Amino acid sequence: MAPAVSTRHAALLAGGAVLGLYQAGGAFAPSLQRTPTRSPAEGRGLRGAAGAAPEGPAPSGAAAALACGAASVTLAASAARRSKQGAQVAPAARRALEGELGVQASTMKAWAVTKYGDASALLTAMDVEKPQPGAGEVLVKNMAIATNPIDYKVVAGALAPGEEAPPQRLIVGWDSAGVVEAVGEGVKGFQAGDKVWFAGDITKDGCYSQYTKIDSRIISKMPSTLSFEDAAALPLTFQTAWEGMVELMGVQKGKSIFVLNGAGGLGSMVIQVAKHLGLTVIASASRAETIEFCKQMGADHVVNHRNEDLGAELKHVGFDCVDYIYNAHENDRLGELFKLLVCDGRLVVTFGPTQEQMAKVDWTTAWLKRQTLCFQMMFARSMFNTEPAMVGGVMATLAKLVDQGSIKTTVTKKYGNMEEINDATKFQMSGKAIGKICLTMTH
Ligand SMILES: NC(=O)c1ccc[n+]([C@@H]2O[C@H](COP(=O)([O-])OP(=O)(O)OC[C@H]3O[C@@H](n4cnc5c(N)ncnc54)[C@H](OP(=O)(O)O)[C@@H]3O)[C@@H](O)[C@H]2O)c1
Repeated sequence: MAPAVSTRHAALLAGGAVLGLYQAGGAFAPSLQRTPTRSPAEGRGLRGAAGAAPEGPAPSGAAAALACGAASVTLAASAARRSKQGAQVAPAARRALEGELGVQASTMKAWAVTKYGDASALLTAMDVEKPQPGAGEVLVKNMAIATNPIDYKVVAGALAPGEEAPPQRLIVGWDSAGVVEAVGEGVKGFQAGDKVWFAGDITKDGCYSQYTKIDSRIISKMPSTLSFEDAAALPLTFQTAWEGMVELMGVQKGKSIFVLNGAGGLGSMVIQVAKHLGLTVIASASRAETIEFCKQMGADHVVNHRNEDLGAELKHVGFDCVDYIYNAHENDRLGELFKLLVCDGRLVVTFGPTQEQMAKVDWTTAWLKRQTLCFQMMFARSMFNTEPAMVGGVMATLAKLVDQGSIKTTVTKKYGNMEEINDATKFQMSGKAIGKICLTMTH
């Protein structure tokens, strides 16, 4: 069963924000034409044109009402109404309702924002409606989460250029390990108590909250050999690395790959996956500790991306050109990167390049050399309902690779519980992160 198109999804499609989501330097808004916001129905139309998706699960309020009987109908309906209006369920009102109805209120803590801006200042603990799993969904009790640049980019308004505030409280965070609390109708392969992990769906609430409801097709059981904290760090970057190298570039054993930004959360995973796939890896880093981390992740050579001549850096370690390039940084060097590729070479980018960046590429040579530019976007499968079950498959592959010792956690910084989310976010935003940052969920 496919999930319904959310308001955020519709806004994302309508606003052209898919283009700007991963654009360079956080400068999303200037490169985007602001278009009028479409209604969810129009969003569905667009989505239908892209080859998707039937209607989604029943609204959570209705599901809760069915599950709990008549007394809860009032509470669930009330909570659903409040949620629709974008309001939090006020603790006093909740207690009054609880007393009146004699039932447990269904709220949870989330670390969310109510306006766009600096995530490290805006993320605030608030009580929100606890979700209920619909058909095909599971409810996960998040035990640990990890941060990614996408979190602060979304809080900065990347999905809604020109807007000051989201239509309702915004829960970001797309890396979690936790325990299945409940399963919705028709879910196969998961039951309450299972330890699972997921990156999730950017068109839905993220995991900076005690619970997340999620499409069961995009999760898997987590490895038995990792703690929740060490596990939470891996889903998003592994999916990005795997899709880029296996699905898009179709890398072949024995060839070479250059990973620009090897020590970040993404690059450190790309290095590991590339080594697992039998490639020779040249990674880039500029500090003693990041150079060392690239080596720990398995890089055969490390070059310095602060050098203006990357070609000279590659030559220095014995390569005129490489077979593949994984760009885990902005696209400000796109023209240069194409020159470092062999004939038939393939280049993955993780941002949409700007017109200016595209203008610096020698496309004639790229054509003569039959080179391929691949755009990696790890939320694309869930966003456009394009075989989303493949995401669950990638997560299950990752769990196996971890348990057999082929992939290790990339966590280098563990914060305490969610009270420290603002500090963790500040560090994530510094551009100095090495590997991944994780936090233990507050319960
Ligand atoms: N499209 C997708 O599906 C997708 C998925 C995941 C991530 N991404 C994007 O990929 C980017 C990387 O993510 P991440 O999590 O790895 O970020 P990150 O962890 O914040 O990266 C930190 C690293 O960036 C390096 N760095 C700083 N300036 C650099 C420069 N001029 N050139 C090369 N490297 C530089 C630093 O290494 P040194 O200190 O050694 O310089 C630092 O260790 C983000 O913008 C993210 O949004 C996209």
